Amino acid sequence: MTTIRRIQVRPLAGALGAQVSGADLRELDDATFVEIHAAWLAHEVLFFRDQDLSPEQHKAFGRRFGTLQVHPFLHSRADDGHPEIVVLESDEKMPVVAAGWHTDVTFSATPPMASILRGVDVPDYGGDTMWTSCSAAYDGLSTKMKGLLAELSAIHDTSKTFSRNAYPSKNHPDADKVPSAEHPVVRTHPETGRKSLFVNPAFTLRIRGLRPAESNALLGFLYEHIVTPEFTCRFHWEKNSLAIWDNRCTQHRVVADNLNAHRRMERVTVDGDRPV
Ligand SMILES: [Fe+2]
Repeated sequence: MTTIRRIQVRPLAGALGAQVSGADLRELDDATFVEIHAAWLAHEVLFFRDQDLSPEQHKAFGRRFGTLQVHPFLHSRADDGHPEIVVLESDEKMPVVAAGWHTDVTFSATPPMASILRGVDVPDYGGDTMWTSCSAAYDGLSTKMKGLLAELSAIHDTSKTFSRNAYPSKNHPDADKVPSAEHPVVRTHPETGRKSLFVNPAFTLRIRGLRPAESNALLGFLYEHIVTPEFTCRFHWEKNSLAIWDNRCTQHRVVADNLNAHRRMERVTVDGDRPV
């Protein structure tokens, strides 16, 4: 247990993830936010319990980090005035969750900096979310492999996830209109300077300049390496639990068990910059 000044930060796993106590996100003063922000950069994903936030309070916490974005396809609370709040809902009629590893919205030229997810109605067991540290994964590579990857960029688009009947969109008519984006395979965190792997199986299509078999083999290796258990953490949701992850250096996925139970999550997403 590390005590800073206002909040308590307890790491959840070796590579990333920490649970924060001592903060009420409904009424957050600037000094407490500074501590939360520093802990977030250090641990990549932070977890809070018992945060009964209104939509306005959820958005206000997100705006502490930056500008909120509206997702191009996902269902939101636009009908009650909150298009920035994405709704991720599953039950026995729609037993579908984001069960593949991914980083949010990397088909954009400027993928989000952060996502802030709140458990609104969650099952007693199952439906956990896992995260993995792409910076720990980068650190775990050999110097030779780091050197090879430093020269490479990859194409990201929506074709593997949003253009077909994959979670969480339906076959969305606008998905094919979104232009692809090209990002470095290794990006440098704009705030910490730490390097991380920036390819994910949901949105990365291929590595530019490699033959298809070479690209597939290298991406396959990286995807397997990135989800090494020692780079991951896992969180069990309770009602009003909240997670905020650094979308620049992590991937996440839902564990698709107990899918018949109702599970409703709400997310706000903070704009990021162009990966370099
Ligand atoms: Fe996600």
